[in-house]
Amino acid sequence: MSLKQLNLDYGPNYNEFGIIGNSDRISEVITIVKTVAPTSLSVLISGESGTGKEIIAELLHKLSERKNSRFIPINCGAIPEGLIENELFGHEKGSFTSASEKSKGYFEVADKGTIFLDEIGELPLSSQVKLLRVLENGTFMKVGGSTNIQVDVRIIAATNKNLTKMVEKGTFREDLYFRLKAVTLHLPSLRERLTDIPLFVLKFAHDSADKYGRSQLLFDKESLSEIANHHWKGNVRELKNFIDMLTVMETGKAVDGDIIRKYLKTEKVASYLPMVINEDPLKQDSELIFRTLLEIKSDLNLIKKFILNTYTKDITPDYFTEKSNLKDNLDPAREIKPAETQTEKEIISASLRRHGGNRRKTAEEMNMSERTLYRKIEKYGIEV
Ligand SMILES: Nc1ncnc2c1ncn2[C@@H]1O[C@H](COP(=O)(O)OP(=O)(O)OP(=O)(O)O)[C@@H](O)[C@H]1O
Ligand SMILES: [Mg+2]
Repeated sequence: MSLKQLNLDYGPNYNEFGIIGNSDRISEVITIVKTVAPTSLSVLISGESGTGKEIIAELLHKLSERKNSRFIPINCGAIPEGLIENELFGHEKGSFTSASEKSKGYFEVADKGTIFLDEIGELPLSSQVKLLRVLENGTFMKVGGSTNIQVDVRIIAATNKNLTKMVEKGTFREDLYFRLKAVTLHLPSLRERLTDIPLFVLKFAHDSADKYGRSQLLFDKESLSEIANHHWKGNVRELKNFIDMLTVMETGKAVDGDIIRKYLKTEKVASYLPMVINEDPLKQDSELIFRTLLEIKSDLNLIKKFILNTYTKDITPDYFTEKSNLKDNLDPAREIKPAETQTEKEIISASLRRHGGNRRKTAEEMNMSERTLYRKIEKYGIEV
């Protein structure tokens, strides 16, 4: 069987809504989406990072009568605690020192539409009360206001935290939790929908070729099963990035198991540098450079972790495994020298520059929440 035929064997890549996948697990999700979308019930979406929570939230909006009004995604973890109520509900003129005009919050802007509250577990307890009120009777007051404002907004929330545990610990209000989870949707990880993996690979290969102006890769059976056997911690997002990288590095190739193994094991192989796998001399240089970069990246990550953990005391257990001599340097009682603070500032600034000022990507790279990043940007006076 030729590679082309093999690709065609996988049938249509999309279901009728442009969501990739036809496994039982994702089909169950789509069935619930179709049933509840036309109602105004709140929906709580759970699932690991990169499983498609936001695209499902958007689909719920698109399939509802609200589709012609706004869909506003808000990442609760990205807004500093002190500003959240202002962002969500707006403020009256003079309600705080710099409030020279009154402002509309997202709830007013999204009237008749849908608000998607991503990372709902990050919402401070004080704002949870206000949110509960909007959910119960559609009213809220602006910051510094004294009159009720009525809106008609559907709320979809998402989390990759265990809200039940947060309720037990008292960090998430039980009444709000019950109100939000009128309908719950759990998005399966890639490991739980293995039969969808070839569909993702083929669709992403097609899209990447378009995006980067390269020839489309063709995958054989073995390569697809290598990909399916890999543990994709970042789920669909990570797989998509991998196919982007592969499209650029191996443009137009017939991808077999060896090629996939080479890349998916790169980080381990990298420690045996210099080692060249490809026999084509023209490819050898780029392969060596690619491996060296990965090696440098992994060293940088270790250094970053070390420096950042010194300040945040957010010490992860794996940190002590290989380089246990770092442990002494992490003693919280240790004196912190100004030069080290400078280093953290520089690292954050450099990461922000690398990501074109994108805080979410920067926070991801720095292994910290967006809120912590925001505080550090303020603290060091970093211009973004
Ligand atoms: N079924 C799917 N079909 C097509 N693309 C998908 C699908 N699921 C996820 N994606 C893509 O994967 C990426 C991650 O999806 P999304 O942002 O919705 O995930 P998420 O669960 O919200 O992640 P996070 O928890 O990190 O916020 C996006 O680029 C999205 O387009
Ligand atoms: Mg998301």
